[in-house]
Amino acid sequence: MSTLSQSFWPPLRAFCRGPLRGLAQAWRPFWQNPGAHAGPAESSVALRTSHFRQTTCFAFIFLLVTLGSIAWGQNLLEQVMIRHVKDMVATEIRAHQTLSGRDSAAQLALALSQRETTVNRRERAAAVQDADGTLLYGNAELLAPGLCAGRAEPCRGWLRSSHTGGDGMREWLGHAYLLPDGGRYIIAYDILPMLNRIYPVPLVVGLSVFTALLLSLGAGLFFSMDAANRISRIRQAMGRFARGELDARVALRGRQDEFDQLGKDVNQALGRIYFLMEEVRNATNHIAHELRTPLTRLQQRLSNAADTIRDNPAADNELALAEEEIRRILYLFRAVMRISEIETGRCHHEPAPIDIPALLRDLHEYYDVLAEQRELRLLTTLDEDLALHGDAALLFQALVNLVDNAIKYAPAGTTITLLARRAGAGLELGVADEGPGIDAGHRGQAVQRFRRLTHDRTIAGHGLGLALVQAVAALHEGSLVLGDNPLPRAAPGGLRGLMAVLRLPATPAAQAGS
Ligand SMILES: Nc1ncnc2c1ncn2[C@@H]1O[C@H](COP(=O)(O)OP(=O)(O)OP(=O)(O)O)[C@@H](O)[C@H]1O
Ligand SMILES: [Mg+2]
Repeated sequence: MSTLSQSFWPPLRAFCRGPLRGLAQAWRPFWQNPGAHAGPAESSVALRTSHFRQTTCFAFIFLLVTLGSIAWGQNLLEQVMIRHVKDMVATEIRAHQTLSGRDSAAQLALALSQRETTVNRRERAAAVQDADGTLLYGNAELLAPGLCAGRAEPCRGWLRSSHTGGDGMREWLGHAYLLPDGGRYIIAYDILPMLNRIYPVPLVVGLSVFTALLLSLGAGLFFSMDAANRISRIRQAMGRFARGELDARVALRGRQDEFDQLGKDVNQALGRIYFLMEEVRNATNHIAHELRTPLTRLQQRLSNAADTIRDNPAADNELALAEEEIRRILYLFRAVMRISEIETGRCHHEPAPIDIPALLRDLHEYYDVLAEQRELRLLTTLDEDLALHGDAALLFQALVNLVDNAIKYAPAGTTITLLARRAGAGLELGVADEGPGIDAGHRGQAVQRFRRLTHDRTIAGHGLGLALVQAVAALHEGSLVLGDNPLPRAAPGGLRGLMAVLRLPATPAAQAGS
């Protein structure tokens, strides 16, 4: 920033802040409750853009400067007009002095009455007073309550006064000339008609400026809405990417302006992130794949070694522990590979119509004993006539992971509900528990691979369960939705609970088409 703008901007910003705050307060009801007005939500966003704030600020400065210029211009016009009138009055007085050469008020009055039989017009008046103040000639309006009546100081020189008489308002500007005998000669012009003629000038200029101001605010609002709209497209693309739509990109307008440039940069960054994610994912899968065979062989060797040293219990125990560790590592590798197979569609899956009541019944039976051991109540609730096309084994695996979580994290004495219900054109399959639940802000992380939110290390797990559920949901063109458990409780005031559901279309589009 240049030194000039550095020294210019802070006071300007301080100057604008007050009026802008007032303006903002006046507009606040409009943008805080856009629904009450016909405008779209974008217009309320546009009013808050820095672009519109700058436009308002400059419009305000422009208005102040223009109002100042109008006032100054009007004053200048008035001064020019007054100078002109004074010149006329001075010329007249000089003419009478030289032409008449009269020294007394009476002589001057006589001369004037002979000369000026028709001179007195509505906007011009003259009067002659003797030393006692008696009007000898001319317009009495100049005296009572005119220029020279009722004044404490001697009435002479340039005078200005306004008063309302029988024929309307008048603004007299004149000069009182003191005659040698103490009398007075006054000439004045009514400048009100002239003033009235110049007053519309600032009014017209003001109206034009106001119109220009409204137009510039309208244009500012339009450009702000456009800017807000384009920023919102960029934010939407980034939001979709953050929610897992890795192919989300900013749609460019092709105008090559700063928003297109920003959109291009964002797209490049998203593309790069996607590439790096794929690289990491491929490397992980590759490593997992490559290590699986030697680990299986190692496990076998340990098992053989354990068979040969049965008579040494200490060594036998160590080998059993080593075998257990390898079993766990193999489980991890299998889980990671399973997720990536499902995510990439490389897994073997057989979509077919699914018997949902049977699926939930199997699940119930599978966990019945374990739930009882953990003092948990297992319930099933399902809508009738639900239809679903998908892979029963994968969906069963996904539901197993959800029930497994519920059993792990919900406290004893609570209820776990297996549910299947209609949702719009599709359905929801899921599990609700009465455990601690997951904070709304952490739900996105909970579905990431190897991401565990619990700090209780006594609860076994690798943070892979929900990642697999999400992959199964995506394979069925659905999504995994995590939320608080809204189901009614037997005992009020318990924990918030978690409801994890796979939101699925009844028939995935891929199958519907084939
Ligand atoms: N029902 C639940 N109640 C509370 N927290 C949950 C629940 N389900 C999942 N979580 C939280 O989400 C995290 C991720 O869950 P996920 O199932 O992916 O991993 P995990 O259960 O820790 O391990 P794994 O499933 O691999 O055995 C968990 O570590 C836990 O903190
Ligand atoms: Mg789990």
